[in-house]
Amino acid sequence: MSHALDTNHDPNPLRIGVLGAGGQLGLCLLRSIEEADDLELAFAATRDEIDLGDFEQIGPYLDSHAAARPDLVINAAAYTKVDACEAEKELAYRMNAMAPGEWARQLMERNIEFIHVSTDYVFPGDCSQPYREDDETDPKTVYGSSKRAGEVAVLATNPNALIVRTSWVFGPGRNFVIAILDQAARRRTGELEGPLKVVDDQHGTPTSALDLARALLELGRMQHSSSGFAGGLLHLCNSGETTWFHFAREILDFAGYRDLVITPVPTSEFKTAAARPAYSLLCCERAAAAGIVLQDWHDALSDYLGGPDVSASLLANDSFDTEQSDGANSGRPPRSERSG
Ligand SMILES: NC(=O)c1ccc[n+]([C@@H]2O[C@H](COP(=O)([O-])OP(=O)(O)OC[C@H]3O[C@@H](n4cnc5c(N)ncnc54)[C@H](OP(=O)(O)O)[C@@H]3O)[C@@H](O)[C@H]2O)c1
Repeated sequence: MSHALDTNHDPNPLRIGVLGAGGQLGLCLLRSIEEADDLELAFAATRDEIDLGDFEQIGPYLDSHAAARPDLVINAAAYTKVDACEAEKELAYRMNAMAPGEWARQLMERNIEFIHVSTDYVFPGDCSQPYREDDETDPKTVYGSSKRAGEVAVLATNPNALIVRTSWVFGPGRNFVIAILDQAARRRTGELEGPLKVVDDQHGTPTSALDLARALLELGRMQHSSSGFAGGLLHLCNSGETTWFHFAREILDFAGYRDLVITPVPTSEFKTAAARPAYSLLCCERAAAAGIVLQDWHDALSDYLGGPDVSASLLANDSFDTEQSDGANSGRPPRSERSG
């Protein structure tokens, strides 16, 4: 067995802890840390390991051997079931607002940097040009309000923390792409019939969890070398814009379902517990000025569909009520049309 020195390995890597390591973004962070020579995983906190909403556990966890001294913690955990949040307000605020605030406090006490992830849903969705970081927030849902409260709690505790807002995330797990592919497959087998209806009056930008993860890690490097942002808010999505309908069409065309008919419909045709923003484009100029620009969402989708996550996610696709599957809520047929 060779013991040759690994010359690519950084002798002083940036050590990163990931909260929500079992989610779409969390899994992509783990992969991206693994593939980077200058990064090392300090801990990967999944729900099995720690209940992030149980604040008593934070200190002991950070001081334990399992969480071996990170330089930076990235919070990819959240209660993302947008409709369920309407009925579970307390849980939504505990996970999306109080927990990030408490983690920010405990990390600051230990001099550990913090990047927290937030959402386009903090905005009201009635704009006609991309929202900037300093635009007024006015969330219309419990989910959005709880995420906004999380931003406020984190920055009140630690103004040097970085809060990255993103939108329409797809990665390993439940998301709109998977929901559409699931619907298409069921129509091909005859399990479902009739055109797939997809909302065409909600505008936004799909974002690859893997592209976002890599960009967050780059931001982490910049923060650590003091060449990054001094903290505060940052918008980060793939480039371009679309509607759920056009996104669905692109997914189907890429995936070999060109013949599958989909019908554009207005939001009013689908009743959901939580209202969806009509317009949630985020202006990413601040990130671009620092040299961070994510690829066009079409290319990100092509990478995703050509990668390993789609088949695994299709097999595990048990729920559509997540932020990332908003359009799928709209895109899925009425309950009576669904099997089960
Ligand atoms: N998905 C989107 O479209 C979208 C859009 C804009 C912003 N964002 C934001 O981006 C971030 C990442 O989203 P995502 O799509 O990766 O979310 P996700 O796939 O739903 O992952 C969230 C993770 O948090 C974990 N979690 C929730 N409550 C927990 C608790 N009490 N203890 C431990 N773990 C807990 C979840 O575990 P369980 O699976 O066991 O619940 C899950 O692994 C979130 O901050 C989200 O708000 C997402």
